[in-house]
Amino acid sequence: MSRAKKKVRVVKKKAKRRQVSAKERFLFGYKSPNSGSSGEIERVPTGIPGLDELIQGGFEKGSVVIVAGGPGTGKTTMAAQFLYNGAVEHDEPGVLLNLEQSGENFKTHMRLFRMDFDELEKKGLISILTYNPNEIIDVIKGGGGMLRDAMDSIGAKRFAVDSLTAMIVFYERDYDARKALVNLFSSVRNWNVTTLAVLESNIVESHTIYPTVEFLSDGVILLRTYYEGNVRNHALEILKMRATDHSKDISPYFVTDTGIVVFGGEKVFEK
Ligand SMILES: Nc1ncnc2c1ncn2[C@@H]1O[C@H](COP(=O)(O)OP(=O)(O)O)[C@@H](O)[C@H]1O
Ligand SMILES: [Mg+2]
Repeated sequence: MSRAKKKVRVVKKKAKRRQVSAKERFLFGYKSPNSGSSGEIERVPTGIPGLDELIQGGFEKGSVVIVAGGPGTGKTTMAAQFLYNGAVEHDEPGVLLNLEQSGENFKTHMRLFRMDFDELEKKGLISILTYNPNEIIDVIKGGGGMLRDAMDSIGAKRFAVDSLTAMIVFYERDYDARKALVNLFSSVRNWNVTTLAVLESNIVESHTIYPTVEFLSDGVILLRTYYEGNVRNHALEILKMRATDHSKDISPYFVTDTGIVVFGGEKVFEK
């Protein structure tokens, strides 16, 4: 083995053994590296087939994860699966905050993916709130009381918002949008629900708010499109997932008749 290669090995070994300083723990909320489902981190299965395998078993309980992507990439479907499968398979009630479409519209679309939200509402496993973006601004300003009441009334463990973008673009100043995000995220963290927040990345990338959303959240999943000839394909990338030794691959996913399915073992690009 060359001297250079040996050196790289030694450095890698040292990095693995390296202790995390108190300052790092404070700054980054650092938890023990590689602590997966078997470690002290409590994980919440995402309800999206193939995704848990990429993130050590699921989202960290109580975390705020962003799913960002362009129009038609499947963000709403993913948020629906997170809530629907969370309720049906894991008995975890959830609240959906709809800012882009009516609850009826949402339910009709999701029925096409064989997710019956009417039934879950009847069973008290789902509560769907629909607000105009300007109304939610007031709710957040007032401490989010109405959101909290909805969560308390069904004992929510999961929360999804579709979309943050609808809210962000309503603020005239980025400063106010940032403040609202900080308030919303800190509220949901205090309420101990696990949150999936949808972000329309094409619109927000040109806004200075985008890096803030990434920075404030615990995780960012990016849904991308790429072309093979004249066929449009989808691929998912985990940009960030705090306290998680997550996949660094770009994984293909498909929108099927039961929702999104991720194929973690497949490679989108050979190089
Ligand atoms: N029944 C279905 N079977 C397969 N794919 C579907 C079905 N219904 C919608 N789709 C696909 O899902 C996409 C919509 O996903 P959606 O979650 O609304 O995206 P986004 O919220 O990112 O705009 C559509 O662009 C369409 O390609
Ligand atoms: Mg949508």
